[in-house]
This record gives sequence, structure tokens and C-alpha cells, in this order.
Amino acid sequence: MTHALHARPMPVGIAALLFLLLLPLPVVTPSQAAAAGDGETLFRQQCGTCHTVKKDEGARAGPPLYGVLGRKAGTAADFEYSDALRRAGFTWDAGHLERWLTNSNDFLPGSYMNYRQEDDAVRQGIIRFLQSNAAK
Ligand code: HEC
Repeated sequence: MTHALHARPMPVGIAALLFLLLLPLPVVTPSQAAAAGDGETLFRQQCGTCHTVKKDEGARAGPPLYGVLGRKAGTAADFEYSDALRRAGFTWDAGHLERWLTNSNDFLPGSYMNYRQEDDAVRQGIIRFLQSNAAK
């Protein structure tokens, strides 16, 4: 009875399912997200630990960014800013965000946020996200 030793073929559905489970989870790199224009993913990955953007969401490690475009630097309520940011004196717009995100400590030495992003597409994706999602 040699044929009794033959393993029964696995049903195709289960084989396909196992195959899918073995595939690594897709990891979205910042450049891929930027290329896809996905500012929300970029913001979540790079800023979301420290910043909120929705109305009535408060400070985390960083000040709330709701309404940041058009807001004077260093003036969100209930946040203890560095002197550097409190005395900066400008109003946030895309150009200031661009410089801040390129190298925050070069732009405002002594500030508490330490962020550098050399990839233009990533910075611009995040700024676009703020323009459409953090606006009052
Ligand atoms: C590890 C925490 C952390 C991360 C990550 C972070 N920030 Fe910040 N951010 C801060 C802190 C702290 C301050 C306050 C800096 C100060 O007072 O000098 C700040 C300040 C700011 C301000 C000034 C706001 C104001 O009210 O003047 C902006 C704009 C900002 N961050 C944007 C971003 C963006 C966009 C990202 C993501 C690309 C980001 N930050 C990532 C901690 C962080």
C-alpha cells in the first residue's frame, strides 16, 4: 500500500494563506511615504510622538500644533518653551517650517527640539500635511 504514504496535498486556500502570513509586513520608509504624498504617515512617524494637530488635543513632549501656521512662534498656551523659541519673534509659515525642519538647532540654537531632515520631499510632505490639517 505505498500510496498510503503519500501526503495529502494541502488545499490551495490554506497554502495561499500561509504564504501571505509569511510575507513581511510592509514597512513604509519616509522617502516612500513622501513619494506617495503621504504627509499624514510622515507626520505620524516623525512628529506624532511629541505633537498633536487636532483642536483641543494638548501638548505632548512638544507644543500642540493645531493652528501653528499663522501663529507666533513660542506662544501655544500651557507650554514651557525654550528662551530661543519664546524670543524668536516670527510667525510660523511654510518658509520658517522649512528651515526649522531642515535643522532645528541650526535655525534656533538652544531650542529644545532637535530635528534634522535632509530629504526635501519628506519636509515638504510634512509641511503640506500641516497646512491642510493643522489650520484653524
Ligand atoms: C522628541 C520630540 C519632538 C519631535 C519628534 C518633534 N518635535 Fe517639534 N517640538 C518639540 C519641542 C520640545 C518643542 C519646543 C521647542 C522649544 O521650546 O525650544 C517643539 C516645537 C515645535 C514647533 C514650534 C511650535 C510653536 O508653538 O512655536 C514646531 C512648528 C514643531 N515643533 C514642529 C515639529 C514637526 C513638524 C515635527 C516632525 C517633523 C516635530 N516637531 C518633531 C518636540 C518634538
